[in-house]
Amino acid sequence: MIRVRFVAADGTEGREVEAEEGAVLLEVAQNAGQPLEGTCEGQMSCSTCHVVVDAKDYARLPRASEEEEDMLDLAIGATRTSRLACQIVLTRDLDGLTVRMPPEHRDMQGR
Ligand code: FES
Repeated sequence: MIRVRFVAADGTEGREVEAEEGAVLLEVAQNAGQPLEGTCEGQMSCSTCHVVVDAKDYARLPRASEEEEDMLDLAIGATRTSRLACQIVLTRDLDGLTVRMPPEHRDMQGR
């Protein structure tokens, strides 16, 4: 199992969950009740699955593709360690990964 820690946008401690190797971070986050919409379901055309990866963990992730970088340019509150959760496949190397919800979550329902 791979441990993943989710931290709320305001920096408050979130929750730690265990995920299967090969699971996609977006699904793991949604199953853990995190506020990521993932509207395009991994097609890299929405950026609503944007998360901010902990700086110490960022280098452990495989590099983002050019398409992902382009989407991140449009993501609200993106930082240098932002990634799209739909593009992150969990591997053993990522055990202990910590990600934070983006500072300004845009709610598509306007609530
Ligand atoms: S789910 Fe749309 S870009 Fe990740």
